[in-house]
Amino acid sequence: MLKIFKPCDFHVHLREGQLLKYVLKENNKNFQKILVMPNLIKPITNKNILSKYRSFVLNNNNNNTEILFTIYLNQDCSIIDLKNMVNEKLFFAAKLYPLHATTNSSSGVKDIKKMSKYFEFLENNKIPLCLHGEHIHENDDPYEREKRFLDFELSWLVKNFKGLKITLEHITTKDSVDFVKSHKNIAATITTHHLLENTNTFLGNFLRPEIFCKPVIKSVNHQKSLLNAALSGNSKFFFGSDSAPHLKNRKFNEFCCAGVYSTKYSVSNILELFYTSKKSNNLNKFLTINGCKHYNLKFDNTLISYSRKKDFTFKKYSKFKNDSLINYNHFKNYWSKN
Ligand code: DOR
Ligand code: ZN
Repeated sequence: MLKIFKPCDFHVHLREGQLLKYVLKENNKNFQKILVMPNLIKPITNKNILSKYRSFVLNNNNNNTEILFTIYLNQDCSIIDLKNMVNEKLFFAAKLYPLHATTNSSSGVKDIKKMSKYFEFLENNKIPLCLHGEHIHENDDPYEREKRFLDFELSWLVKNFKGLKITLEHITTKDSVDFVKSHKNIAATITTHHLLENTNTFLGNFLRPEIFCKPVIKSVNHQKSLLNAALSGNSKFFFGSDSAPHLKNRKFNEFCCAGVYSTKYSVSNILELFYTSKKSNNLNKFLTINGCKHYNLKFDNTLISYSRKKDFTFKKYSKFKNDSLINYNHFKNYWSKN
């Protein structure tokens, strides 16, 4: 048995409409806090869009989960509009997507060095900046995008905005682990699938579209570095699932969408990982404390018991409308709430 605080997921995609209702229910079961990403088909770039989205989400939330909203930061955002939203505490963090980096990033930012006025605004108002950390440039290799982002964008950002609180999202490389460790005011989220998979398990044998995501899964050496960072309990690294539902017919398709739907079994996978690595004492740090510390949030420290069911039959697909979602799972054993 393991006793932990109810976990937080500091990076999740709820989407919209009926799918949102379904996904939010699964989040309610598992998490005390979630940080919700803004890359809707029409991204959340202003107060009008955010207000409607907030109402829809909050009306469908069961209130045991604290929902933290993000705004989609791009060159179309208005500083006055941002100020109004800050005054009304409508969003918690700003998310920046480089142009064409991932799903719904066609309104992303082409040149972050032209975004200084927004970074100053965030810094002055103590609003965290969450980054999709990939440098997207013509024929650059997808495996090099994260490293290039550190060199071309993030180094510039931390040098020029020393007071800005930054979260480097879903890191996949040793380079990012080292960068985050060696700079102040920056922490990183790590997903379940980047901890548990590598290029061999992704495409070394058969190609597995269900774990195709951005940033793309990296080699075993990078994976080891992520595992060390997460399992060590280091306060700069915490859980953000990047759980990103796409329907099965969009995943098993000529053009497979990037995104892994991991919410259903993510807590179980993380518990099994820490348990089998003999690091269960760091679970609360990775799943709750480190993220809350980074974001200055209070958390519920009620203990919840989980027990281990051996050789569990996992549900690979969850029916949704005429299609289904593909549930990501890695281990054979399942940790269920008692
Ligand atoms: O694989 C991904 N899917 N990475 C992201 O950054 C976005 C996400 C999505 O929204 O589907
Ligand atoms: Zn994401």
